[in-house]
Amino acid sequence: MYRLIYKSSSAVEVNWDMVRDILRKSTEHNVEAGITGVLLATEHHFMQVIEGSYEKVNETFMRIVKDQRHKDVWIVSFGAIDARIFHGWGMKGIGVFDINRDLEADLIRKYGEEDGGLRFPLEEWMALALIQDVQLIGGLPTWKAGQQGETDY
Ligand SMILES: Cc1cc2nc3c(=O)[nH]c(=O)nc-3n(C[C@H](O)[C@H](O)[C@H](O)COP(=O)(O)O)c2cc1C
Repeated sequence: MYRLIYKSSSAVEVNWDMVRDILRKSTEHNVEAGITGVLLATEHHFMQVIEGSYEKVNETFMRIVKDQRHKDVWIVSFGAIDARIFHGWGMKGIGVFDINRDLEADLIRKYGEEDGGLRFPLEEWMALALIQDVQLIGGLPTWKAGQQGETDY
């Protein structure tokens, strides 16, 4: 089992429709390929964790890099893991935009600022800490698709 984390810059300003479109397509493929993970989006950046077999993680990453909706795709980490963190999620999307300003300011204070929004880290431990922080915050828009169908909440 392997985990890859990358961050990228969006080609255009990110909105929720765009994230939903990406995830709808992605999840179809991910469920079939046994890929799990999470996608975080700010107005200008993405950060994604992909977990699965060596072959499928590589294949999926190649497809992602080619997508014109983003650029400057930088690998944060890639390596063998003992177990998945995101077990059960074909690909969960979390929008770190359109959030309460105080909350965003707190996250920016901790992780830094980039292009006027939250900066996604370039270190694996910090990326995982950020994901944990973001998941603990209630009320952020999330999107998840699975075998049971799509769930908006
Ligand atoms: C930010 C971002 C995240 C993506 N994540 C995934 C993913 O997890 N799995 C995947 O298969 N494709 C992912 N993609 C790629 C697109 O969904 C791509 O359009 C799709 O896989 C192409 O499928 P198709 O060749 O069947 O049209 C991502 C693209 C972007 C821009």
